[in-house]
Amino acid sequence: MARKKILFGNWKMNNTLAEAKAFCAEAETLTAAAAKKDLIIGVAPAYLSLAYVAEHKAGLKVYAEEVHYLNHGAYTGNVSIPMIQEVGAEGSLVGHSERRAYEKENDFDCNLRLKALTKAGMGGIFCVGETLKEFEAGMAEDIIRSQILVGLMGISEADLAHIIIAYEPVWSIGTGKNASEEIAENICKYIRSLIEELYSKKAAQQIEILYGGSVKPVNIHGYLAQEDVDGALVGGASLTAASFKELIENC
Ligand code: 13P
Repeated sequence: MARKKILFGNWKMNNTLAEAKAFCAEAETLTAAAAKKDLIIGVAPAYLSLAYVAEHKAGLKVYAEEVHYLNHGAYTGNVSIPMIQEVGAEGSLVGHSERRAYEKENDFDCNLRLKALTKAGMGGIFCVGETLKEFEAGMAEDIIRSQILVGLMGISEADLAHIIIAYEPVWSIGTGKNASEEIAENICKYIRSLIEELYSKKAAQQIEILYGGSVKPVNIHGYLAQEDVDGALVGGASLTAASFKELIENC
């Protein structure tokens, strides 16, 4: 099965319900534009808009930005897989660097979430990436290796088919300092080689690997042209339908 090109928006703590509704009014236009480019598109809205967006998605993939690994319990402020599933989400982001930095999520937490999601037949976009300090120390590959080794622990090759990996160097997120196409390609290639080492050549050829970090309509094309970059995970430039459409058109 050939890999698909994917463009996913992570809205983070942006877009109120009213703004999400305005975005959804254009969802059909977006999915039609994406179909012409053979592109899968999706968004991860904040929880309060998740049900509305899932109901009016017009072919968009809809993921949560985060999910707990347990189905229910005394975890104030958290949301479970059955809850996001019930409102029509197909999966969740896992291990975004902002969750790692501000909510102290670690690779073991990511592993629990990925296992719970795949067990429930849901998808996961597993985010990995190094900080600026780690990048400057030449440790990017080592950091990503350990994030992936722990994150995918105990996940079978069959379940891996539900997982997308997003390489998001922390130093490029929301900073306008995007990683060069060469860096993105080299790390995505490295991730693919790691999947081959951990699973198989077939799994490595099939897994979709995205780049994320200051992706904009002006630079998206260069990333998607790279052999091992299967798409982009976009923050700021994914928030409005107009900007999302520009991203699609420039793919
Ligand atoms: P920006 O595109 O705003 O840099 O955010 C990237 C990101 O974190 C997507 O998950």
